[in-house]
Amino acid sequence: MNASVQLMDGSVSTQDLAELMARCAGGAGDLAPPAREVLESLRNDEILLASDGSTPVGVCAMKYTDGERVATLSFIGVHPNRRRAGLGRRLLMEAEGVARENGFQALRTGSAVDSDNAAATGLLKQTGWKPVFGASLKMWRELKDLPDAKPPAGYRVRTYRPGDDTAFVRIKNAAFMSENAGGRAWTEADFEKEYLNSPYFYPERVLFAVFGDEPVGTTTAWTATNRGKDVGLIHWVAVVPEHRKKGLGWVLNVRALHKLKALGYGEAILNTSETLEPAVRLYRRLGFEVVLRRAVYEKPLEGVRKPSAISQN
Ligand SMILES: CC(C)(COP(=O)(O)OP(=O)(O)OC[C@H]1O[C@@H](n2cnc3c(N)ncnc32)[C@H](O)[C@@H]1OP(=O)(O)O)[C@@H](O)C(=O)NCCC(=O)NCCS
Repeated sequence: MNASVQLMDGSVSTQDLAELMARCAGGAGDLAPPAREVLESLRNDEILLASDGSTPVGVCAMKYTDGERVATLSFIGVHPNRRRAGLGRRLLMEAEGVARENGFQALRTGSAVDSDNAAATGLLKQTGWKPVFGASLKMWRELKDLPDAKPPAGYRVRTYRPGDDTAFVRIKNAAFMSENAGGRAWTEADFEKEYLNSPYFYPERVLFAVFGDEPVGTTTAWTATNRGKDVGLIHWVAVVPEHRKKGLGWVLNVRALHKLKALGYGEAILNTSETLEPAVRLYRRLGFEVVLRRAVYEKPLEGVRKPSAISQN
């Protein structure tokens, strides 16, 4: 194959580009073809095409934001029949050169890349891209050999009672605000929507650690699908800052794991972020291991080569 890589010269219509991107997105990981809104937003992107003769077989899109030091790699894909022939690498290196020529100091992927997309992570790592700290993690554990756990003195664990909505929201907000994570603060309306109105809500699955009469920590033995299987899900683990480091996270989650096992699940998962380091340490101690990372990747452009095979019309 004698493919060339060049900046798009206007001869490819938006429709053709959309079809090319849909074809090039297929086959690796769960990457869905770009949705219409994404394609719309690519209109002002810098587009690089890899072509075999006059047939486009690969595409890469980059977004520049004025005043930013980092350009965004919005899309890269190679036609499934033309993979493993060096085209992805050539497109990426060309894109790096073009971004550098345009004054950018780094290039960053526009969305997070799943670790099970072996082709994308392989290509990025091979060309010097690094995951940016803050990956989201899926952790997994089989529900066997569960440890025991007793609450520390002065605390007990109980399940949800009507009226605990306020306590749940207070604990969740206090816990996640202190970590600068967990999205926006919840209100009781969120609890009603996400919990009380959910078909998976059962009071005995929502656990609270209580100090005196005051709920100070919570976790939920919820449910999810993982690789087509129904599994248990450890959901919204939160202990208010004043009651941390006493083993409440451990007790709550051990209890939740036992609950999931009693409900008949053979495996449990949870979703977290590597920024929540104490939580990740706790989950590892609880026997969870990371089975999927979703990370944004970045490459500093210092020293990258100038664009080479570019023909601009
Ligand atoms: C990712 C993608 C663009 C790679 O394109 P490609 O033209 O096949 O890549 P290259 O041939 O240039 O490969 C360069 C390096 O990437 C890595 N790589 C590519 N495909 C790989 C795979 N299937 N498994 C593991 N590593 C792989 C290898 O290190 C390879 O070097 P090598 O061939 O010397 O071993 C292509 O697989 C694709 O279009 N995937 C679907 C879309 C997608 O996932 N885009 C990324 C979103 S961020």
